Amino acid sequence: MSRSAHPAGPRHADVLPEGHYSAPPADLNSLDPKVWSRTVSRDALGVVTVGGIDVKTLAEDHGTPAYVLDEADFRDRARAWRTAFGADADVFYAGKAFLSRAVVRWLHEEGLNLDVCSGGELATALSAGMPADRIAFHGNNKSTEEIERAVRAGVGRIVLDSFQEIVRVAHIAQSLGKRQRVQIRITVGVEAHTHEFIATAHEDQKFGIPLAGGQAAEAVRRALKLDGLELIGIHSHIGSQIFDMSGFEVAAHRVVGLLKEIRDEHGVELPEIDLGGGLGIAYTSDDDPREPHEIAKALTEIVTRECESARLRTPRISVEPGRAIVGPTAFTLYEVGTVKPLDGLRTYVSVDGGMSDNIRTALYDAEYSVALVSRVSDAAPMLSRVVGKHCESGDIVVKDAFLPSDLAPGDLIAVPATGAYCRSMASNYNHVLRPPVVAVHEGQARVIVRRETEDDLLRLDVG
Ligand code: LLP
Repeated sequence: MSRSAHPAGPRHADVLPEGHYSAPPADLNSLDPKVWSRTVSRDALGVVTVGGIDVKTLAEDHGTPAYVLDEADFRDRARAWRTAFGADADVFYAGKAFLSRAVVRWLHEEGLNLDVCSGGELATALSAGMPADRIAFHGNNKSTEEIERAVRAGVGRIVLDSFQEIVRVAHIAQSLGKRQRVQIRITVGVEAHTHEFIATAHEDQKFGIPLAGGQAAEAVRRALKLDGLELIGIHSHIGSQIFDMSGFEVAAHRVVGLLKEIRDEHGVELPEIDLGGGLGIAYTSDDDPREPHEIAKALTEIVTRECESARLRTPRISVEPGRAIVGPTAFTLYEVGTVKPLDGLRTYVSVDGGMSDNIRTALYDAEYSVALVSRVSDAAPMLSRVVGKHCESGDIVVKDAFLPSDLAPGDLIAVPATGAYCRSMASNYNHVLRPPVVAVHEGQARVIVRRETEDDLLRLDVG
């Protein structure tokens, strides 16, 4: 795979993935609603608009590159998850996908809870007024200081990830005179159908406590004995960008199996089960994600069925979608800087951002779509690769795409479905400044995370 070895040389990239993009799409100007946020369309002049504002105005007012986030779409998707799971379940938005104070407020207003996994995410959540009891604190190596802050703040749950952490959290809670609600994250031995770096419940990896070998049962035994802890449930997260529900089915089966063991051994029925996040979204027209109501129905049925057959009361279910809420709600707006045709290969289109604003292509071989958005074009399709401005040949944003052959410097192009894990994984590589996040809603654009400046860079560099 190109991520493990990226050979240099002029012809290193001349082979398209088999069966992929063998033919250009019928209409290069069309915008597939699967991959674009819901308020996106073209106006009478052919310019793409989102939230009632056209991209030329956005580029003029806020510069490029910029992440453009469709607030109505975000709220709709958050609400759809909330509604689908209903009052007997909890939806924790996974802040790692993208977190900002505006997003925290939207989530709060839409009735969602929040999963944070660092002191920084916790600080953002609390500073935007998310009630602490609606926050879950995650992470495989929380620092003592982070645990102390979370316990003091009164977070609704801490998800314990190791034997050491069981003792650490218990000790800290006790020394603060508190009893902390906790879940134990277990690895159920399921390998989700996804990139190996983001599958998390198979056993050979750093997260959670393995179910295998009785380790999870031992963790429960220890947690139940400690006065500083109130064990409320078991947590499992099997991976990310998953379309197939069968991994969740196996995970639920195994988690419920553990709940049964706990009941039989300790006479305790734990009241909660968290099945994590990981539901996939469409990055290209080939992807077919499920709707929240289908997912909710499937997960609820699986857990209910498993509990009935184990003669357990059905626990309260929670889920932690990140990508599935924010991913489709944003696109990255770039200006084309150079267009370089390489005879017989493809055309390299350089934009004013790159791997610093979207590392996913380089890191996971992720696929994206792209479109010319500042105008329509009738020109013939041109096999293209959208690349950034970084000093690295692996600096690719969209590996294989068709763009119109009259594409020229100054045109605006946009890459959809960049709401998740793009701004949150952005870097300053080559001292390139991280783009702003501009939220659009009913004809108004508002910067919710401002563009980084050279002063920001120099402020950290204390000489
Ligand atoms: N819950 C837990 C415990 C997690 O570790 C994660 C993601 C989620 C929920 C949310 O997963 P989602 O619904 O967003 O798939 N950087 C990678 C994804 C890493 C996911 C890490 N954990 C990517 O860009 O694809």
